[in-house]
Amino acid sequence: MARQTVIVLDFGGQYNQLIARRVRECGVYCEVKPCTVSLEELRAMEPIGIIFTGGPGSVYDPKAPQADPGLFQMGVPILGICYGCQLIAHNLGGRVTAAQADTAREYGKTETVFNTSCKLFKGLPEKGVTWMSHGDYMERVPEGFSLMAHSEACPNVAICDETRGFYGVQFHPEVNHTENGTAMIRNFLYEVCGAKGDWTMGDYKQTAIRLVREKVGQGKVLLALSGGVDSSVAAALVAEAVGSQLTCVFVDHGLMRLHEGDEVEQAFSKWDINFVRVNAEETFLGKLAGVTEPEQKRKIIGEEFIRAFEAQAKKIGRVDYLVQGTIYPDVIESGLGDAAVIKSHHNVGGLPDYVDFKEIIEPLRMLFKDEVRQLGRELGLPEYLVSRQPFPGPGLAIRIIGEVTKEKADILRQADFIFRDEVAKAGLEGTMSQYFAVLTNLRSVGVMGDGRSYDQAIALRSVTTSDFMTADWTRIPYEVLDRVSVRIVNEVPHINRVLYDITSKPPATVEWE
Ligand code: XMP
Repeated sequence: MARQTVIVLDFGGQYNQLIARRVRECGVYCEVKPCTVSLEELRAMEPIGIIFTGGPGSVYDPKAPQADPGLFQMGVPILGICYGCQLIAHNLGGRVTAAQADTAREYGKTETVFNTSCKLFKGLPEKGVTWMSHGDYMERVPEGFSLMAHSEACPNVAICDETRGFYGVQFHPEVNHTENGTAMIRNFLYEVCGAKGDWTMGDYKQTAIRLVREKVGQGKVLLALSGGVDSSVAAALVAEAVGSQLTCVFVDHGLMRLHEGDEVEQAFSKWDINFVRVNAEETFLGKLAGVTEPEQKRKIIGEEFIRAFEAQAKKIGRVDYLVQGTIYPDVIESGLGDAAVIKSHHNVGGLPDYVDFKEIIEPLRMLFKDEVRQLGRELGLPEYLVSRQPFPGPGLAIRIIGEVTKEKADILRQADFIFRDEVAKAGLEGTMSQYFAVLTNLRSVGVMGDGRSYDQAIALRSVTTSDFMTADWTRIPYEVLDRVSVRIVNEVPHINRVLYDITSKPPATVEWE
């Protein structure tokens, strides 16, 4: 039997992909279509439900995107969110006007009271916070509709006509600020649309592979692999889709963690692709010689990275597509909601100038990080790659304070490995968002055996955070810190002191440079 599909009809709201993600989270396949899609195309998809997104317009503005009246004749349940709710009212005989400041113009968190006899709110608390962002007001609700939720300022926060399966909410159930928002979407899917929950990431993988195949055809594809989660999963997906038409260029700048370069190469050995590993340690270290200023290090590495990639791309010649591992949080506009926060410093580099390609493909553009990891597992990537903690593009260069040398990088790699090893043995990874060692620029006196030492200090850093914009230092048990410390001073030459960084962000940052 065909898989059940829900259509998210996009009226220009900023949360449209987030709605799709929530539907998928509920185990139902979902596609986002522009609001201009034809009725024929929609009918051919045989959706079990349609969700109208929000949008910046006002339904009574002739230039605002409109819903085809035929949508209401399809016999398919509809959930309208914000602008989508007003569209339902506008189309079915209600009246929507600009809200007056003292009536129903609402922004932000709003105390809301629900009628739980409505299928949308079935089994949920009668009161809760919802996230509002609307300046229009349903002055008259269409015939056949009942009011199912209200706030202090607004008598008609939710409307429904249960016989026809039409529901509308003025708030945004898809954002985290709305309490039980996902449960409301789940109710729409399961209580109203009759969803069975027949969608999995395995299905998503199949669809994504098919789409890449269709797009690429016989074309040539190029991808810059960093070894991070996103570019690795994008590479695996395209490898699975078009095999030897893909060339992955993996620039190993020599500033990765212990064994990391080999692990990345190993992970891709199962695909029949052109895997180019550029061992550029010498070049990078050469460029970094004598440089101590952190931003200068970043700049040099970013530029060198692009240069190394371009040199390979030139050898390959013209390609049809360049793959990028952009994921959904990278594309969300910041602002309302808390779906994701965009980091200022992203991956190394940017787009190479001299690569000759026709178009960019971003196969992960619709996925959130945890979905990307799940897809990676489906594609058979090893766990050490898909669950990898964030690692900055400039790598160990910004964890070696002062000048970067091969010797220092080797020392740091060993200490960092011991730290990660002991964390894994203690089963603590889940409590730590990012953890690593830093080679400080400090030498201090110690005593080893009967002799005096004057050697370097290693700092350990671990943070626990949800967005990396703010972070707390992790309360690692003393015994674990002790084991790490003892092992580092015993196993790593030239380290005679181990420090643990107990500063939150702010005022410190996660990385030391
Ligand atoms: P900070 O040190 O700014 O780090 O608190 C926040 C997150 O960003 C990562 N980071 C970088 N990632 N290039 C990157 O790709 C960089 O130059 C860079 N600097 C910091 C850092 O590892 C942490 O996850």
